[in-house]
Amino acid sequence: MADTWEALQSECETCRECSLWETRKNVVFGVGSRDAEVLFIGEGPGANEDEQGEPFVGRAGKLLDDMLAIIGLERGKVYIANIVKCRPPQNRDPLGVEQDACIGYLRRQVALLRPKIIVCLGRIAAMKIIKDDFKITREHGQWFERAGVQMTAVYHPAALLRDPRRRPEAFDDFKALQAKIRELCDHTEVS
Ligand code: URA
Repeated sequence: MADTWEALQSECETCRECSLWETRKNVVFGVGSRDAEVLFIGEGPGANEDEQGEPFVGRAGKLLDDMLAIIGLERGKVYIANIVKCRPPQNRDPLGVEQDACIGYLRRQVALLRPKIIVCLGRIAAMKIIKDDFKITREHGQWFERAGVQMTAVYHPAALLRDPRRRPEAFDDFKALQAKIRELCDHTEVS
């Protein structure tokens, strides 16, 4: 039977495939247009996201919104998801077993969405999605093609909050994303 967003979301919301279900308040499934041509992937929910059930709603999310605004891209026109859908305690990196338990949900989201462009937010997502030895300081902003999908990684907004000296590089990466959207997308508006 063909997969549906509704089936996927309800499976995800009752998931107990790894131990993160024990401490979660909410499953953070993903948000945005199910018609989006651009998919952003973070690593996993933090405290605010766990509280609200929505990705990138805390300080890092506000910075992501600002970066999107710089290139005239509306948050509601893209899709935003994470590698793991439940909050790792103390905001630690998601463990390999947790990523492996959860990645099937993201793969199904990608299959339903069929994005033209995938933007990994930070090292963890880039290592899971682009290649396992991805070096964010060296390879952010580079483009990779996988099965007809253009992929890139940018610094995680939380990393930009910690180290604002990286912001000019992130700005350049978002400008390159804007150009790629103009080149490849049919209905995703940028400024
Ligand atoms: N950081 C992430 O990687 N994902 C979120 O949803 C929020 C913060």
